[in-house]
Amino acid sequence: MDEISEKNKEKNRQHYNKLYADYSIRNILIWLKDLDGFLKGASSTETSWHALYQDGFKDRLEGKMVMEMGCGDCVNAAIMAGLGAKVYANDIAEASGEIIQKLNNSWNFKYPIKFIAGDFLNNELESENFDFVIGKAFLHHLTLPEEKDFLRETTRLLKENGEARFFEPAVNSRILDEIRWHIPVKGRPSKFHGKEFAEWKENDPHPDRSFSSSHFRKAGAVFFEQINIIPVGTLERFNRLIPRGNRNIKFRKWALKAEKKLPFFLNEYLTRSQLIVYKKPIR
Ligand SMILES: C[S@@+](CC[C@H](N)C(=O)[O-])C[C@H]1O[C@@H](n2cnc3c(N)ncnc32)[C@H](O)[C@@H]1O
Repeated sequence: MDEISEKNKEKNRQHYNKLYADYSIRNILIWLKDLDGFLKGASSTETSWHALYQDGFKDRLEGKMVMEMGCGDCVNAAIMAGLGAKVYANDIAEASGEIIQKLNNSWNFKYPIKFIAGDFLNNELESENFDFVIGKAFLHHLTLPEEKDFLRETTRLLKENGEARFFEPAVNSRILDEIRWHIPVKGRPSKFHGKEFAEWKENDPHPDRSFSSSHFRKAGAVFFEQINIIPVGTLERFNRLIPRGNRNIKFRKWALKAEKKLPFFLNEYLTRSQLIVYKKPIR
């Protein structure tokens, strides 16, 4: 692996080990007790859950072999295991392994979650054994050469009729992207403050690379015959203009439904995130 990719991997490892250190699984245990209630709420208001669980994903998991790459806080790995899937989860951060251990010790999953520690690309998993490969806000943390290696590995792991589902941010409009960087958010200065912005960027675990839908279409076409990219967050993204609270939740619920009625070209251009579905691996 090239030097930039190695550095990026280590930056991610350190960043997420810090973020997930001593992570409390209290909320996950509450959500596991009412999976339907949790998914109903999350998928009607949160872009990542809305995107990943659309088209009946929840009902397609029971008994299925699922690999989650970049499992992070392990909430999704736990939900999928709660729904009866045989979940394998990987993350470069060792802290994710500790979360999985706590989850397996505290919840009686039908199939305990298996954590694959460290550099996933060196795994010894059997080929063509998985029904799903999942990534939730994962691919965009990889450099382009790393992403290529992960997509190649995805084709190796998936069954012939398997499916890869990646929820990722989307940057299809340069203008909107520039506006975004100039608006300060909690923990990230505005691009107007060049020095502070550059300092923040130095420690940010996102490599400089394309997040466009056309990139994911082109990158996927090398490894998959069938590609479907679904924009999510075109109207929802404006929730930032409404203070947190009930009105904000109501707006997000409305926006995620209403934006589906927009013409595809507008949705794709303006969207904030996307679900990338790859099928029919080319081997
Ligand atoms: C934005 S977080 C997403 C976590 C989780 N999927 C979620 O939805 O909250 C990205 C995750 O990818 C992991 N990651 C980054 N590079 C990785 C790599 N090369 N191999 C495995 N995991 C990696 C990070 O450690 C982090 O946990």
